[in-house]
Amino acid sequence: MKKCIEAGTVTRKDLIVISKLANQHHGCVEKACRKSIKDLKCDYLDIYMIHWPVPNTHPPGCTVDSLDPTAIPFSIDVYIKVWRQMEDLVKKGLVKHIAVSNMTVKKMKALLKVCKIKPVANEFEMHPCFPQEALKNYCIKNDIVPIGYCPVGSPNRPARDRTDEDLVDIDEPVIKRIAERLGIHPATVCVKWAAQRGTIPIPMSANQRNILANLDSICSEPLTAKEMKEIKGCDKGAKGRLIKGQVFMWVGSKGWPDLWDE
Ligand SMILES: NC(=O)c1ccc[n+]([C@@H]2O[C@H](COP(=O)([O-])OP(=O)(O)OC[C@H]3O[C@@H](n4cnc5c(N)ncnc54)[C@H](OP(=O)(O)O)[C@@H]3O)[C@@H](O)[C@H]2O)c1
Repeated sequence: MKKCIEAGTVTRKDLIVISKLANQHHGCVEKACRKSIKDLKCDYLDIYMIHWPVPNTHPPGCTVDSLDPTAIPFSIDVYIKVWRQMEDLVKKGLVKHIAVSNMTVKKMKALLKVCKIKPVANEFEMHPCFPQEALKNYCIKNDIVPIGYCPVGSPNRPARDRTDEDLVDIDEPVIKRIAERLGIHPATVCVKWAAQRGTIPIPMSANQRNILANLDSICSEPLTAKEMKEIKGCDKGAKGRLIKGQVFMWVGSKGWPDLWDE
């Protein structure tokens, strides 16, 4: 990629540059966005995304049970103030599109009622054990791109996002069986499935071979209708959620399912 950019065969307009608004910057959106643009050495961003629906923070390296005493639950009256600042970024030409992340159907409905500019995308957790079918369908119905994080089940996520009960997508027998049939890694089966169901998976990899395998998986032989149906059977509902967001809970909440309107 670096070589293509240097040679001019890939130009800025061929790239989609996305950055996120951190929770502690909900009150100073433009300043945070301008810093991202500068840090990325761009003139504008293609998409700027609100990372979490709440402004709650946690110190780096904190334990899973640490709680921000100033944390608050989601409120559309609070969120819309952040969204209005996001809309101003579009008007000022700093960003082409604005987006959300970790939003549920309930929160999306509240936002769509009051926004002037619609979010172009919602980035949320999706993988075979946790496909979030209803949320995905809601986004597609409303012309909002569903972007799936942890698409291969985030095998190396931080300890604060792990519990003993967590499921491992790449160990699911059906995923392993399909991987054997196609002679590919189970992780790439998850990526293939995600793209084939109309979502945009964002697998993270620091390994060139895996990056290329992930790209190849969306262009090569598709999964059969039978395989797509079999993978649907991996859905474990709320039990499949890996990123529970415990560190964003507020005093008085009943537990992390509150964050997800469960
Ligand atoms: N919006 C949010 O709140 C939110 C929350 C969580 C995550 N995310 C984002 O979502 C992206 C993905 O999440 P994630 O990294 O947690 O989970 P993930 O993409 O499901 O898992 C990444 C892991 O899978 C391995 N992997 C990737 N492709 C592979 C392949 N083809 N074969 C074998 N192993 C493979 C990687 O190892 P190698 O490096 O060795 O390939 C890496 O350890 C990240 O960019 C993350 O920042 C967003």
